Amino acid sequence: MTVKEIFETMDYGPAPESAGDALAWIVDQGAAFGHFIDGAWTAPRKDFQSSNPANGETLADLTQATADEVDAAVKAARKAQPKWEGLGGHGRAKFLYAIARLLQKHSRLFAVLETLDNGKPIRESRDIDIPLVQRHFYYHAGMAQLMESELPNAQALGVCGQIIPWNFPLLMLAWKVAPALAMGNTVVLKPAEYTSLTAMAFADLCQQAGLPAGVVNIVTGDGAVGEMITTHDDINKVAFTGSTEVGKRIRQATAGSGKSLTLELGGKSPYIVFEDADIDSAIEGLVDAIWFNQGQVCCAGSRLLVQEGIAERFHTKLKARMDGLRIGNPLDKCIDVGAVVDPVQLQTITDLVDGNTEGETYQAAIDMPVEGCFYPPTLITGLAPSSHLMQEEIFGPVLVSTTFRTPSEAIQLANNTRYGLAATLWTENVNLALDIAPKLVAGVVWVNATNLFDAAAGFGGVRESGYGREGGWEGLSAYTKPKGTPKALKPVEAFSGDKGPLDPLDRTPKLYIGGKQARPDGGYSQNIYGRNGVLLGQAPIANRKDLRNAVEAAHAAKGWSGTTGHLRAQILYYIAENLSARSEEFAQRINALTGGKQGEAEVETSIRRLFTYAAWADKYDGQAHGVPIRGVALAMKEPVGVIGALCPDEAPLLGLISVMAPAIAMGNRTVLAASQAFPLSATDFYQVLETSDVPAGVVNILTGPHADLAKPMAGHLDVDAVWSFSSADHSATIERESAGNLKRTWVNNGLARDWMNAEGEGRAFLQAATEVKNIWVPYGE
Ligand code: NAI
Repeated sequence: MTVKEIFETMDYGPAPESAGDALAWIVDQGAAFGHFIDGAWTAPRKDFQSSNPANGETLADLTQATADEVDAAVKAARKAQPKWEGLGGHGRAKFLYAIARLLQKHSRLFAVLETLDNGKPIRESRDIDIPLVQRHFYYHAGMAQLMESELPNAQALGVCGQIIPWNFPLLMLAWKVAPALAMGNTVVLKPAEYTSLTAMAFADLCQQAGLPAGVVNIVTGDGAVGEMITTHDDINKVAFTGSTEVGKRIRQATAGSGKSLTLELGGKSPYIVFEDADIDSAIEGLVDAIWFNQGQVCCAGSRLLVQEGIAERFHTKLKARMDGLRIGNPLDKCIDVGAVVDPVQLQTITDLVDGNTEGETYQAAIDMPVEGCFYPPTLITGLAPSSHLMQEEIFGPVLVSTTFRTPSEAIQLANNTRYGLAATLWTENVNLALDIAPKLVAGVVWVNATNLFDAAAGFGGVRESGYGREGGWEGLSAYTKPKGTPKALKPVEAFSGDKGPLDPLDRTPKLYIGGKQARPDGGYSQNIYGRNGVLLGQAPIANRKDLRNAVEAAHAAKGWSGTTGHLRAQILYYIAENLSARSEEFAQRINALTGGKQGEAEVETSIRRLFTYAAWADKYDGQAHGVPIRGVALAMKEPVGVIGALCPDEAPLLGLISVMAPAIAMGNRTVLAASQAFPLSATDFYQVLETSDVPAGVVNILTGPHADLAKPMAGHLDVDAVWSFSSADHSATIERESAGNLKRTWVNNGLARDWMNAEGEGRAFLQAATEVKNIWVPYGE
């Protein structure tokens, strides 16, 4: 027999991992679990079961939390929080380190338990999930240690409600719990109803680590329990990973509550193969992109885009590779594809594929297990970009594919989705890779690799894939707030009056849209009076149509986002210079509008602020994360896109500039609703913009009641973020309406900000004006 023949005839024998210890652990716990609240277990009830999707066997009984139990968990977390935060960074670091060590010591138990409960191959839980869990706790032990020196102005948010999915049960727990604890928060976490067991084992481990009671609380149950947590009055932050649909619901349910929110949602991530790619590597990558965890991965490379010239060869090789995949008992170390998490998910996948009538469907010609939740690796070729399966997340081992001719077509197809979680690209041409990566609308981009994760590199999406990052320095801001206690917001009212203007030949303020002064579509204006009742001018009242025009103009100005920081800095300096030339006039206008004396100081601070952001425009750099694999993750700061903002009333000119300057410094285009009470400084200011080389559409200024503009601005699907600093609180409306396309929001939630001082500028603004994209590139050996 030749070596070749031996290779061809060799088969894999089964090499199953024993489930004995994990099953014994479950029995040891009574095979029934209550909740873990305040450091102790509640009495279990047999409300629902966790079962092994590979064979349908029940693993344990679980308890559906009641409102009282959720309340008890939140109370325990609240009580424990000040002391936990008070332990200091080093005190918390020791506990996080202890947890990491214990996870390492019991790694096999966790791996087997995860595989039993979820159905994922033991190779994955053993080599990927559990090591990443450990890494996350080690990494964040370090973050706790460094918090005081590196984040001196940050403090904990308080109690965090955390809702996680079933696809990476323990890893998602780690992503949520480790940073929260590191920054001094306490948590109430709910695992997904299909997969609670490793969370139960984690609770056990918290006890072993001597973690103070109430720091970690875990309650079990379905979406109803999730809803109780997210809507609980005493939760300060909600962190959710799961479907986009539920993410939107949570956004609506928490609107106006003042809770901080991060959402890590679905995706339909492109996997782009250029014709000069190393095809065999790209095929192996694809196995990891879509058949890893049975495709139940939010960032799965589920949309294959392959360049036309190699498409046929690529598909042929891919089918051959699919035929070589082994599916079956997830505990078998030789298995590539395990079980889908639950019969419900299996049905969803089956229905989606069976309901498709387009393209050609190929299913791997492999032996399928006779029982259990298994679905064969599937490839659907020849779909149109608009096809249902090209757009919808299947969340199963199903790859859809289409072809492209040119790099620009690849980008167009890749970005043709409501999601923006991840993207993969394969090419041997470094120039092409680094040209395409910035153009992909995604939070993570992998070059010549796929599905790489590490605690040091932030993970998270854009568009309807949600917001916030998990991991890295950027992930910490989701669990902190600035030190200090802000004052309550006080509405600033416009003055009324009945005296005519001092000068009958006054200017006619207009809206400023697309670099042009524009009359309001509705043809209405409002009188603006000074404190003494003298008419100062008429400000136009913008309506929905004006808002639409402004958004359109902002989109047309997208070239601004591609300009260099140096150019943006020059323009900001130029605005400052031109404002300075007219400072006296602006100061007088502010005093006339507000009836105060702060005009001169406000103009002076505005000029300084423009300088501050001119300075930042070319200095708010990204990072290169050192990740423990053959690569580097470049955390690049990108503009959010089109930012709509309701500007503050407390400082009519400075407020507008404090919002505009960081946004445009970072490459965004803006639609600004000027101070409602005192709009005339803004309408004077567009004359400064006109003389300062600001390209048309980069800054658009509307005037009129904020209440009328808040809703359409937050509901507009082409606006990427809305900030609200209006003195009347529109936070609830904005957060609720933003759910439509999950735009980023930054609202004041009834709290005031001192615009004249440090609070009115700085990193918080730069952070809100940017998204971090992590681009993983091969680097070194
Ligand atoms: P889901 O979004 O309903 O479940 C995720 C978590 O949210 C679970 O813990 C669940 O109990 C909880 N939950 C459900 N409704 C809630 C509510 N109203 N308030 C608070 N928490 C709630 O996802 P599901 O139904 O398990 O899967 C459906 C689809 O969602 C999948 O086919 C997949 O497309 C997507 N999905 C995406 C995930 C991701 O990582 N991005 C993870 C899980 C599912």
